[in-house]
Amino acid sequence: MNIVVRYGIRGTSASDIAASVETAIRAGRLEAGAALPTVRELARTLRVSPTTAAAAYRTLRTRGLVHARGRQGTRVSPRPPLSLRPVAPAPAHLRDLSLGNPDPALLPSLARAIRSLQRRSDLYGQPANRPELLALARRQLEREGLTTPELTIVGGALDGIERVLQAHVRSGDRVAVEDPGYTAVFDLLGALGLVAEPVAIDDAGPLPDALERALRLGVDAFILTPRAQNPTGAALDAARTRELGRVLARYPDVLLIEDDHAGPVAGTPSWSVCPGRARWAHVRSASKSLGPDLRLAVLAGDPTTVARVEGRQSVGTGWVSHLLQDLVIALWSDATTDVLLHRAATEYATRRQALVGALASHGITAHGRSGLNVWVPVPEEAPVLAALAHAGFALRAGERYRLRSAPAVRITIAALGSRDAERVAVVLAATLRPASRRASA
Ligand SMILES: Cc1ncc(COP(=O)(O)O)c(C=O)c1O
Repeated sequence: MNIVVRYGIRGTSASDIAASVETAIRAGRLEAGAALPTVRELARTLRVSPTTAAAAYRTLRTRGLVHARGRQGTRVSPRPPLSLRPVAPAPAHLRDLSLGNPDPALLPSLARAIRSLQRRSDLYGQPANRPELLALARRQLEREGLTTPELTIVGGALDGIERVLQAHVRSGDRVAVEDPGYTAVFDLLGALGLVAEPVAIDDAGPLPDALERALRLGVDAFILTPRAQNPTGAALDAARTRELGRVLARYPDVLLIEDDHAGPVAGTPSWSVCPGRARWAHVRSASKSLGPDLRLAVLAGDPTTVARVEGRQSVGTGWVSHLLQDLVIALWSDATTDVLLHRAATEYATRRQALVGALASHGITAHGRSGLNVWVPVPEEAPVLAALAHAGFALRAGERYRLRSAPAVRITIAALGSRDAERVAVVLAATLRPASRRASA
């Protein structure tokens, strides 16, 4: 059956055609990644002009529902910005190493901090940000060498990234992103109608030449993960920070956003390329260190960026809940939190190294210099996922984290003990061995 008919795509105007595609995506008839007909095929089947069909696709692209990738044609976005039927969780019998979550056992307990909160809720009319939280954050960031002209509070790293992008760029602008990179950032760019420009990375972060090439194409912004890069675990060091700073200095108007989502549990020092730039934001989230449900991040930036972010927030949600801000104040002012975060960073490092080491002992190269994930390049992702599922482990395919980079799988190590690390390595080695023999035959 013709796919236009099968998916229920109909209409004679661009807006009706776009609406029917949106309905098909929402209903699950068109799944994430599904290929859509070419403009010509769509126009022929619906008996409309190619201009109308192209306008329908343009509308869908602007809304982030579909994307066009060269010869792959137009496809439904990996995570279209619509409420969809929830993705099925990993089957209960599998050990879930797919989610990128921190280990609950390594998060500071919220109970004591919650007990210390005042009982009455704030009313409207309070200042948006708790001065004490800003002071604690300023002290933390300045201790690490980041001067903080202006600071504000946002609802997590992704919220901060979205707000900063919206403060400076417009639909159709180009944004340089790490490749491999964080799938939610790719999806966010799609939802905002922004074009992702991939920048290749190694274990020390973006490669200066690759960044230069993207900047030469005229990108308007660059999103950099200084450590705990998702999915590869890359982390900046002093030399790479200097090199990237030199490249970026040639493009003074480019907006720089640093996504420090793991902060103190990343396991490597904090480096920043922001100092001296005109338009920048450094977002430090509490998600990985204190718990993802806090939905709180501190955003440092130049005065214009922070003023725009705060101004927009003030006419929308207004502020990040003061209950959450007070909770973070209570945790950050408690000396035991520092000890716990240090212990968590050490544990995550041990678990990363256990897996990377076990894989290396089986001849498999993997990446995981910092953070909660290890990235394992593989010739093909699906057979590896199937073999590990058979052995009782759920992993994440690398596909959604890649733009131009090569296949790999992502393994969350946050709660992975050394025995399981060895088992994962054995299964991976058994799966990859025949493939490498075939490749060398
Ligand atoms: C690179 C990266 N940025 C941001 C986030 C999300 O952070 P937040 O929960 O603060 O929005 C994640 C979550 O895994 C991440 O991996």
